[in-house]
Amino acid sequence: MDYGRLALVVAVAAAAMAWAPGTTRRVAAWGAPQPLAPCMYVFGDSLADNGNNNDILSLARANYRPYGIDFHEGPPGRFTNGRTMVDFISDMLGLRPPLLPPYATARPADLPRGVNFASGASGILPETGNNLGGHYPMSEQVDHFRAAVGDMGNSSAFRGNASRLTEHLGRCVFFVGMGSNDYLNNYFMPDYYDTAQRYSPRDYTALLLQGYSAQITELYGLGARKFVIAGVGLIGCIPYELARMNNDNRPSGPNTPSSVGAEDIAISIRIGGGEGRRRRSSPWSNPNGGDGGGGSSGSTETNPTPNGAAGACNETINSAVAMYNKGLLSMVKRFNRGAQLRGSRFVFLDTVESGKDVATHAAAHGFTVLDRGCCGVGRNNGQITCLPLQRPCDDRSAYMFWDAFHPTEAANKIYAAKAFGSNSTAEVYPMNIRQLAAL
Ligand SMILES: *[C@@H]1O[C@H](CO)[C@@H](O)[C@H](O)[C@H]1NC(C)=O
Ligand SMILES: *[C@@H]1O[C@H](CO)[C@@H](O)[C@H](O)[C@H]1NC(C)=O
Ligand SMILES: *[C@@H]1O[C@H](CO)[C@@H](O)[C@H](O)[C@H]1NC(C)=O
Ligand SMILES: *[C@@H]1O[C@H](CO)[C@@H](O)[C@H](O)[C@H]1NC(C)=O
Repeated sequence: MDYGRLALVVAVAAAAMAWAPGTTRRVAAWGAPQPLAPCMYVFGDSLADNGNNNDILSLARANYRPYGIDFHEGPPGRFTNGRTMVDFISDMLGLRPPLLPPYATARPADLPRGVNFASGASGILPETGNNLGGHYPMSEQVDHFRAAVGDMGNSSAFRGNASRLTEHLGRCVFFVGMGSNDYLNNYFMPDYYDTAQRYSPRDYTALLLQGYSAQITELYGLGARKFVIAGVGLIGCIPYELARMNNDNRPSGPNTPSSVGAEDIAISIRIGGGEGRRRRSSPWSNPNGGDGGGGSSGSTETNPTPNGAAGACNETINSAVAMYNKGLLSMVKRFNRGAQLRGSRFVFLDTVESGKDVATHAAAHGFTVLDRGCCGVGRNNGQITCLPLQRPCDDRSAYMFWDAFHPTEAANKIYAAKAFGSNSTAEVYPMNIRQLAAL
């Protein structure tokens, strides 16, 4: 047998086994790298969406240029210039190919290795994000996973052996990142939603966590065991919020089309508006300090932004988010005690803590701009999101934010590395994703 032919046979066999769950050990024996986890499923919003909204009627879509301008590996639909945080994580786990397909276009054969259910504009509450149009709320993403489990159970890969499927799913990483839109596109959007009238921030947190916990319990019932729960970042410091805070008219940079009446457009879609001034602090200073749980320690120090911009975070929003993250961490701790969801393991990603660390060491990461989107319109490039065919900044790796809401690929890569490998329990609690996968 000639070696070319042998190599082909081996490659085909390896591919077949990589596809068949439960045989990763044998794939390793053939010399192919063995993934740390055989599969990963993703539930979330636009921070993780990789194209599930492409074919639905929604403003929360990113399948147009310049979104994905640095992404060449697959279909468009990511809300950034390149890869998302979960794209990097599936790669770090050793999944091959490294990217998960969106559920919307996944083939049955993709399901055992993992798919991405995330949907831009979605939240824990079903009505969250309705102001932007269609999307798949958390409960529908879980419904999609339920359907996927049904399909897998009947597939030849598991030969109708339910315990084999359960065993497989128990080794997968379930990444869940929800909640940003329950604030941005619900609670703090009083013209569309009455939740702020009906709930105090504390009661709203309780409402969200109740829904969250119910959906996690559903996933557990379907076979999920290894959970990664991402907290909400400092959304009071994103360019969108900074633009609303900064009443001074700082120049918006060379990429802003000066002919566009940004102010007028902004107001007409209810993004603009300079409400009364409140106590100001700089972006990325955390009004609640960092106690490793996104909670409060009462620290009030402020850090200037590395680029010297006189920015100001919206602390009303940040303190509501701090309360939510604290509750989320408590939920993770409660689940890890194991009385309810036996045999499950949870990791909490403190995105606030990671974001602050990145901002503090911005220069070391090559970031020079922390308070403006690379692509956008108006103050901080944050009043309107990046428009079709708009020209983004050239030095994308120098920006933490790609648009008014979403990090650049460069920032996503750092967040992913922290989630995957950080040894700081302030960032990953009680362990990192690498350790979770190895359990
Ligand atoms: C899987 O099998 C069940 C039970 O026979 C059946 O109800 C279901 O429709 C099947 N699903 C698929 C996708 O074939
Ligand atoms: C189902 O799969 C499990 C685990 O792989 C195995 O131990 C068991 O023998 C299988 N059952 C049948 C009926 O094939
Ligand atoms: C912060 O955001 C809230 C909610 O959108 C808003 O009501 C408030 O006016 C903002 N604060 C400032 C100083 O702009
Ligand atoms: C975390 O600790 C492990 C084991 O001590 C080490 O190999 C790894 O480099 C550390 N990771 C980071 C990001 O420091």
